[in-house]
Parts: sequence; C-alpha cells; structure tokens
Amino acid sequence: MRSLFNRHSSPQSLSEDEVRAVLRTVIEPDLHRDLVSLGMVRDISIDKRGNVTLTLELSTPAHPLKARLASDCRDAIRSLEGAGEVTVKFTANVAADERIAKQLGMPIRNVIAIASGKGGVGKSTMSSNLAIALAQEGARVGLMDADLYGPNIPQMMGAGELPPPRNQRMITTEAHGVKLMSMGFLVPPDQPVIWRGPMLHSALRQFLSDVDWGELDYLLIDMPPGTGDVQMSLAQSVPITGSVLVSTPQSVALSDVRKGAMAFRTLEVPLLGLIENMSYFVAPDTGKRYDIFGHGGGQRYAREIDIPFLGQVPLDPRIVTGGDTGEPIVVAQPESDAARAIRAAAREVAAQVSVLNLTRIPEGVIGAMDIPIMG
Ligand SMILES: Nc1ncnc2c1ncn2[C@@H]1O[C@H](COP(=O)(O)OP(=O)(O)OP(=O)(O)O)[C@@H](O)[C@H]1O
Ligand SMILES: [Mg+2]
Repeated sequence: MRSLFNRHSSPQSLSEDEVRAVLRTVIEPDLHRDLVSLGMVRDISIDKRGNVTLTLELSTPAHPLKARLASDCRDAIRSLEGAGEVTVKFTANVAADERIAKQLGMPIRNVIAIASGKGGVGKSTMSSNLAIALAQEGARVGLMDADLYGPNIPQMMGAGELPPPRNQRMITTEAHGVKLMSMGFLVPPDQPVIWRGPMLHSALRQFLSDVDWGELDYLLIDMPPGTGDVQMSLAQSVPITGSVLVSTPQSVALSDVRKGAMAFRTLEVPLLGLIENMSYFVAPDTGKRYDIFGHGGGQRYAREIDIPFLGQVPLDPRIVTGGDTGEPIVVAQPESDAARAIRAAAREVAAQVSVLNLTRIPEGVIGAMDIPIMG
C-alpha cells in the first residue's frame, strides 16, 4: 500500500512510511529495541531521486555506536526499491535521571561519581579528562571537586578564579568547555583546611545546591580517596546516577577498589564500570610495551563483580605534564593512546547512563514496562 504522503508519485518512488517501516528492523544494541519504537527517528525526507535524509535523536551526544547505527540505517534503507543515497544526521536529548531535578530543583540530568577506594590512582586525572571528552562530544558538563582537603581540579583544568556570587549563589568558572567548582577556588592553595564531619557534609551540600550550575547533561564528581564520610554525605545530598571506578592493575589497589565498589553497592549506587589506569607503558624509543603493574587485573575484577570494563589508560608522562599545566591529555595530545582510551571510556559511561535512565522503572508503574532492567 502506498502511503498518504506519496499518493501522487510514481509506483517506484519511496515513501516515508516505507522508510519508517524498514527502520523498525534496526535495533539499538544497548536497549534491544528498534529505533522507531524508541522514538529516535526524526525528520525523514526523500527527494525525487529517492535520496533519503533522516535524523536520529540519541540519548547522549557521546553515543559510542553512532557509526554503527548510521550504517545499519543506511543498509536497511538501501534494501528498499527506489532508494538512493542515505544521509543520517544526529541530534541528542540526554536521558535524565529524573530524581536529581526533583531533589535539587536544578536542571542537572545526571550525576556521576568518579571514585576508587585508593589514593593516587588517577581519579582526578580521569575526572578532568572524562569531563572534557563528554563536553567535546557536545554534552553540557560540570565537574565538581569533592576533594575538600586536597582539591586538584583547578590546577589540572587550568582554571582561573570564580566569578563573584550572584543572587547569593556561587557561580562556576569554566575551562575546556566544562563548568567547575572546587574548594581550591575558595581557599588559598597553601592554607590547610580542617573539616569536621558536619562541616564537610554541609560544604558538599552547598557545592550542589548553592552553586548555579545551569543546565547540565552530566555533573561529574571527583571523589577524594577512601570510602568514608564523603561518599555517604554525597549519597545523602543528591541521587547519584552511577559511579565509575578507577583502579591501577595491582592487587593492592584492587583490594581498595573492592572496598570502594562495596561502599557504592551498599548505598545502592549503580556501578557504571571500571577504568584501569596506568595499565602499561610503551617505550617511546622502541615501541615495546611494559606491563609495569601486572596485566589484566582491572578486567578480571570488573568481570568478577559483573560491571563493564571501560578500558585501559596507559602510563604516559604527558598525563603528568598535562595535569600540572592545566592542559589535560585529551586536549594536549588528543591522538595519544591515553586520550583515545579516555574518549572511548567517556562514550561507554554515557551509554551506560542512558541505559540506566531509559530502563529505570518510574515509581508507581512497576509491571507496566517491557524493557530489560540492568542489574
Ligand atoms: N595514566 C597516567 N600516566 C602517568 N601519570 C598519571 C596517569 N594517571 C595519573 N597520573 C599521575 O598520577 C598522579 C595522581 O593522579 P591523580 O591526582 O589523578 O590521582 P587521584 O586518584 O585523584 O589522587 P588522590 O587520591 O590523591 O585524589 C598525578 O601526578 C597524575 O598526573
Ligand atoms: Mg584526586
């Protein structure tokens, strides 16, 4: 049957309905549903020669499978009689964890904690680079430094001063396209800060509710080392969409990471995956790879606790330089293996967040949905 849209055209010409129907056979791999029923297909247009242009609305601009989705759409449409060239464009409307706006009264769509039980494994480095990588994909990103004792984010991001407060709310500063808030902006760098439990809790709360973050797709939180007060305080202050664990390959780090993972599980915060940092070193002169801290530890552990493995970031002295000079490696050396690994991890994190949000059963409608729920 010809569609209403095409009732005056020749029998060979392609209709929007046919295109839409064939796109029902293209499956979003993470959500296991077709693009049409997910509401992702927008603005189909077909010219006289049968060339098709369409837009896919993604649940994150950092979708890791953009290229695959586009080629699956192209293949499906080209199988139709009369189809010419196929152009797939993308737009994004980031899937939101609705609990956050409800609790904070602020348009923040997702909160992602970057954590590890262990100090010095690269949490701040990964937080900075992941935040920039998401912003480079077109997402609106904030980075909150929850390390109140040793805030590193201002230096790592090369950020200047905070603008003066407005309407009694703190205003973020911005670096590399990311909005920032850190105790480092409020306390001179060499002045020690001593926090008692209740103060720490209220400082964290203020970083969330007294800061004008504006609209954010992702608010990343750089967690301090350890698994104590801060995790608990944070979880009480805002719903955490998920947490990303950072670890080095050694078993010592991993046993601490275990504690970090368990702390989040106890707080019922989903674990989005594990990034193995300082995984290996490639000698720049010989190109030979050295597994300085052992091999495969992160991957094994991720499998053991059944969370996604988000990849390996090599040891690279340029990461240290970048952190010291405020030019994180995804900016300073975007084609390095480390930057590539971090960008891939950022996309994977964004995808995990989308899946969580799109499969979370809203309160009160249990039983009304037919999509799989992540464990
Ligand atoms: N892949 C890497 N290659 C080389 N150096 C790295 C890498 N990742 C992090 N570093 C360096 O290791 C040091 C510790 O990193 P970072 O401060 O990010 O760790 P952290 O987990 O946030 O530490 P803390 O627990 O103190 O907050 C920094 O000097 C950083 O530049
Ligand atoms: Mg840190």
